[in-house]
Amino acid sequence: MGIEYPKIIQGGMGVAISNWHLARTVSMLGQLGVVSGVALEILLVRRLQDGDIGGHIRRALEKFPFREMARRTVEKYYIPGGKADDKPYAAVPMHKQVASKKLHELCILGNFVEVFLAREGHDRPVGINYLEKIQMPHLPSAYGAMLAGAAYVVMGAGIPTQIPGVLDGLSHHEAVSYKLNVVGAQPGDDTFARFDPRDFMEGDHPPLVRPRFLPIIASNVLAVTMLRRSTGKINGFVIEGPTAGGHNAPPRGQLQINEGGEPIYGEKDVVDLEKIRELGLPFWVAGGCASADKLREVLEAGGNGIQVGTAFALCNDSGMADEYRRALLQEAVAGTARVITDRLASPTGFPFKVAQLEGSLSQEDVYLSRTRVCDLGYLREVYRKDDGKMGYRCASEPIKTFLAKGGKESDTIGRKCICNSLVANAGHPQIQKGGAVEKPLLTSGDDLAEIARFIPEGQTSYTARDVIDKLLA
Ligand SMILES: Cc1cc2nc3c(=O)[nH]c(=O)nc-3n(C[C@H](O)[C@H](O)[C@H](O)COP(=O)(O)O)c2cc1C
Repeated sequence: MGIEYPKIIQGGMGVAISNWHLARTVSMLGQLGVVSGVALEILLVRRLQDGDIGGHIRRALEKFPFREMARRTVEKYYIPGGKADDKPYAAVPMHKQVASKKLHELCILGNFVEVFLAREGHDRPVGINYLEKIQMPHLPSAYGAMLAGAAYVVMGAGIPTQIPGVLDGLSHHEAVSYKLNVVGAQPGDDTFARFDPRDFMEGDHPPLVRPRFLPIIASNVLAVTMLRRSTGKINGFVIEGPTAGGHNAPPRGQLQINEGGEPIYGEKDVVDLEKIRELGLPFWVAGGCASADKLREVLEAGGNGIQVGTAFALCNDSGMADEYRRALLQEAVAGTARVITDRLASPTGFPFKVAQLEGSLSQEDVYLSRTRVCDLGYLREVYRKDDGKMGYRCASEPIKTFLAKGGKESDTIGRKCICNSLVANAGHPQIQKGGAVEKPLLTSGDDLAEIARFIPEGQTSYTARDVIDKLLA
């Protein structure tokens, strides 16, 4: 029996834009729903502190195999009726090379919950998306997702050659390790993050399904590198172009920018699909592909289908907070929507697509009025300190702190706190000292400008079903 592959992958969209509800809806419609795996430990805590509306989180945790771990987490964070609006959410420790057991527990549980809920009530596959740039949470996160039966791991923003072997090991509850990218590391330094499921298991557990692994790539070279250097099996590719939402791969070759400061992509950035086809693995094409014509074109080129983000991010089933989703839709309908490829905003240094929206960090005055604080730390870079120990810094943290850690002032210009704003996009903004509420920063693909094509006549919004129907028409 051949494997049945989806024609449409609903792309992973962090933070919680592709939440369990969107992914579940898409999978139940016969395509592949993918939950975002980013910052699920933060969301777990914040959803519980918001009173666990609908009881979904506690329902999922009741099915978690290690009962004590689930029990103490609910006991610690759940607030019946939700926290007061002006109270901050509980702080969660930031990731480090050697993280606290408590943080790893939250990662396992957060990932379990999201995949469990996306899989609830049907037997179609569901995937999870991670970013290689955010390496430190990988091991406990993947384990939690696998405990809930994730069928696919889809991963971009870097070169994730170590993941296949990790998935193999975790499927047998084996101890695994992950070599972190450490700036200034010297031979002999221990740069590994480590994770042993046995430190968390409460009794024996049967082996887990090893998810299929689909790296997201933006060049033919990277596809070949992934195949040559990976620690285990790769099951296919997502080929993503520079019009896609979220982070984009930087242009290849010498950087050129347009008058608006956006990176210019050229011929070198076009992936040769014929060469990808020759590699013999399934593949999906992403970035401005949300049309029946484009799907047909990819199928004719020997691909398996398309991965779509923006169209799903703006639909009623997405996890984007309603007020931002509606505002962006209105801009699109009015023909005034604008998306900028911002090469400074993300502390990762990768270009990041920013949808321009009043009141969000895309506006210079809103950005400048925010007091810099780094309390989530997902995009912190690991660096070697003079004493040989690991340090952590982010170009969006308070500038003085960043400089004291050896960071360069020029790297701080235009950098935004993507961590806090992306959690705000999903409707769970932190309240900082002094009462400042974290502001959103919306990301979207260039497709935003044309997104009104999915709105059925006589309506003002559309659903995931509308998207799928139109793409398969
Ligand atoms: C709101 C939003 C958030 C995204 N976040 C991620 C992410 O966390 N990880 C990732 O691999 N891709 C992310 N993407 C990219 C999508 O998964 C998808 O590949 C891309 O949007 C496809 O292009 P399209 O937007 O033109 O359909 C994001 C896209 C959007 C619109």
